[in-house]
Amino acid sequence: MERIFNDALRKYCSNDYYPWHMPGHKRQVELDSHVMGAGFDVTEVAGLDNLLEPEGVLAKSMQQLSAIYGSRKSYYLINGSTGGILAAISAVCRRGDTIIMGRNCHISVYHAVALLELRPIYIYPNIIKEYGICNSVLPEQLEALLKEYPECKAVILTSPTYEGILSDIQNLSRLTHQAGAFLIVDEAHGAHLEFGTNAPKPALRCGADLVVESLHKTLPCYTQCGILHIGRLPDWADKAAFTKRVEYFLRVYQSSSPSYLLVANMEDGIAAMEQWRSSRIPEYYNRLRRYREKWKGLKTLRLLTKETVQTYGGYAYDEGKLLFGMQAAGIRGSFFMEQMQQTYGMVLEMASLTSALAMTSIADTEEAFARFDQALTDMDRILCERNTAGKEEKETETTNDFEKIWQPNSQILCPGQALNQTGTVQPLEEAVERTVCDFITPYPPGIPILVPGEQIRKTHITYIRACLENGLSVHGIQGKDSIVVR
Ligand SMILES: Cc1ncc(COP(=O)(O)O)c(C=O)c1O
Repeated sequence: MERIFNDALRKYCSNDYYPWHMPGHKRQVELDSHVMGAGFDVTEVAGLDNLLEPEGVLAKSMQQLSAIYGSRKSYYLINGSTGGILAAISAVCRRGDTIIMGRNCHISVYHAVALLELRPIYIYPNIIKEYGICNSVLPEQLEALLKEYPECKAVILTSPTYEGILSDIQNLSRLTHQAGAFLIVDEAHGAHLEFGTNAPKPALRCGADLVVESLHKTLPCYTQCGILHIGRLPDWADKAAFTKRVEYFLRVYQSSSPSYLLVANMEDGIAAMEQWRSSRIPEYYNRLRRYREKWKGLKTLRLLTKETVQTYGGYAYDEGKLLFGMQAAGIRGSFFMEQMQQTYGMVLEMASLTSALAMTSIADTEEAFARFDQALTDMDRILCERNTAGKEEKETETTNDFEKIWQPNSQILCPGQALNQTGTVQPLEEAVERTVCDFITPYPPGIPILVPGEQIRKTHITYIRACLENGLSVHGIQGKDSIVVR
């Protein structure tokens, strides 16, 4: 067998690209205090406890997590937030239940909805048009749906979003509990909030019942590392039974041979974050603030700020995410991302038609920020000159199509039912008004624009076409440009 993947990985990692993407350790070997390798790759042997039934050293380690985060109980996850989200929803809901969810939830939430044949009721957050992104979920949106669907068992929301926007979890959890339901928060992008000076408050501290965090996204931890927290829980909840169900489903969705290299890395990453509370972490936030101030002066690249989020009615913003809007530059996010990599070796996390995202973490040094600053300043100057010379790529009708697709779709079947249908494969343009049988998901960010059982509109097709033509990956598309429908 040839080492095709190994060769590709070695080649990629030997270049001088700088990762403005996850994982949060940014591949810095010096942050890895125990590069252990095969010498330490054991799983559940005597003396090292059992991750899924902990009683010894792992139970003790997880008790420390609870103390740090202020949870009832916390659990290491070795299958990322994905495993935690599947377990959380399965623990709270029974087959066929009604769940209220942000329509901007990650695909892992939809997978749980489909597996359990839940009936999803969607909250469509308002959007910030210039960036083509969702803003906060508003308490009044949730309140109205809880009144309309009193049978709802669970609410699940993403906070912060991929782009760093938080919702008012304190009020949202109060409303959810008053309605007799549990609040699950997908905080995959917020594992660092607990440690941040002046960072927005994490969901667990605001009354959420189950919170899932990806440690690998914003902390110095390996890919797949995560935590699930059980919160204080409302008075009416049977806390012991609830905890038992969560623990059962963590066993269902995770490997029975968990990697203790990952577990050791998580404990180490969190211990480091604690040690850096008054050193590295405030330094990181100061650096962010300094550069954000400078980048307000860019002429074509528009950095999303807390002020913009709040002007559009948003609740709070995590400034560690750097989202650049491309409208004034007259280019696509995907073009910007490509140029940043090819010309300056800066690899961004994600691009959409309208914006591009860089992810930061405490691992980004002053030198890394300075390099990024140089690249941004240079790109901005080039784009400015292009615009002045009138050579800019004119904004096409599709640039803002996110607004057109971000409207409630007709739901003909529930996702679980539609996924089990045998559909036929149709070219995109012939699929209009048909019912989609698969998730259609620009990836990243992994938010389905079409969910199985929804009716396809012409605007969806225009949007998908624009994504494909601009080199963005859309999961669920068959072959070059077809889709499964019934
Ligand atoms: C909002 C959100 N939730 C959940 C996930 C899944 O997280 P993980 O990759 O840790 O499984 C992601 C992944 O990108 C995400 O963006």
